[in-house]
Formats: sequence, C-alpha cells, structure tokens
Amino acid sequence: MKNIVILISGRGSNMQTIVQKCKAEKWNARIRAVISNRADAAGLQFAEAEGIPTAVVSHKGYPDRESYDAALMAAIDGYQPDVVVLAGFMRILTAGFVEHYMGRLLNIHPSLLPNFRGLHTHQQAIDAGVRIHGATVHFVTPELDGGPIIAQAVVPVLPDDDEDTLADRVLEQEHQVYPRVVRWAVDGLVTMDGNGKVVLAPEVVKPLDYVLTGGGL
Ligand code: GAR
Repeated sequence: MKNIVILISGRGSNMQTIVQKCKAEKWNARIRAVISNRADAAGLQFAEAEGIPTAVVSHKGYPDRESYDAALMAAIDGYQPDVVVLAGFMRILTAGFVEHYMGRLLNIHPSLLPNFRGLHTHQQAIDAGVRIHGATVHFVTPELDGGPIIAQAVVPVLPDDDEDTLADRVLEQEHQVYPRVVRWAVDGLVTMDGNGKVVLAPEVVKPLDYVLTGGGL
C-alpha cells in the first residue's frame, strides 16, 4: 500500500477528486495526510470529514523559504510518502525541497505548459488569443512550472470566455487528468529517469492519448 500526501492552499477540489477516486477505484494507496500552509484552506474541512489526518504548516513566522520548507518536509516525511501531490499549493518551493522529493513530487498547473507559467493563467490565455488552453500535470523540478510533462488536458477557448468561464472548463479537465496520473504514479506506471525524462509504461500510453483528446475539443 503506497502513501500519498497532498498539499493544498485553498479550495482543494483537485484533492477532493483524488481522495474520492482513490476510494472508489480502490487504489493500492491511501491518502495519509492533507497538509495546508493556510489554516483557512476550505479543503481541510473535506479531508477532516473523510477522516484523513490534516496538518497546517503556516508559512508565516519563518525567516526564509529554506526554514519554512524544512518544517514542511518534516511534516510530510512523518507520513512516509511515496507520492507527494501539489494540488493548488500556492508556494514557490526551494531547490532543497524539490530535490528531496524528486521523482515523487507531482503538480498540476492550469495551462498548457510551457505556455503561461505563474499566476492568472486563464487571463494570460485570453490575452494571448490562443484557441486552445488546458492543464498540465508534471513532475516538479527546481525550475518553476518547468518540470517534465506527464499529461495534458485540452479545452477550447470560446469567443465569449472570461477568466472564470475558462477556469471552470479547465478545472473540469483537471479533475479528470490529475487523479489518473496520481494513480499511475502510485502503480509505478509513470516515472522520471535520471535524465529528468518521463517514462511511461506501455499500458498508460493509450489512456494518456484519451486524456489528451477527451478534453472537450
Ligand atoms: C487549480 O486550478 C490548480 O491547477 C491551480 O490552482 C487551482 C487549485 O484549485 N494550481 C496552480 O495555479 C499552481 N501554480 P483547487 O484548490 O480547487 O484544487
């Protein structure tokens, strides 16, 4: 049985879908903990109601990123994680943190990387005038939003979209693609090699294709 630790900062809808699918699909894993840097993260209530241990490691009061990340690592490592899932965890992580979890640290970013790194990705997409947009699940490396891409889900950008309508359409796809990739990671079907390249087991190549094209285009 693999251990998953999920990090959130807010609503936690991606975390919720991962928790639900882990249970419904009987993954060979359990969600050992949900950890937030904000005590008011709404997702914590859902996790508590599910009986999942929660922790808050507030980023306030630390002199620098290194000391905060060290405290966060200590909290995470208490749960002996095989996979650490960033699910709307809105902190820039130090290289030391990322290297500690290299190969078992996943993130979802609400754009088709390498386009639109950082914040306000949906507005960035609208401003750029792109016709397709989406979400990317990737291994985390020290380069912000720059780690090797595992899967992407694609949605159209419609003429009357605003930031909110586009975000909703992307989020729906995030809830499809992220649990799927986390499950593959749990099952060892997606790994990162020593050169930082994604290695996919043959059996996930077809489902990956589905994720790519099943997203509403
Ligand atoms: C999601 O859209 C996720 O892709 C994004 O934050 C949202 C969290 O929603 N993550 C980032 O922007 C990371 N840079 P959620 O809390 O409901 O899962």
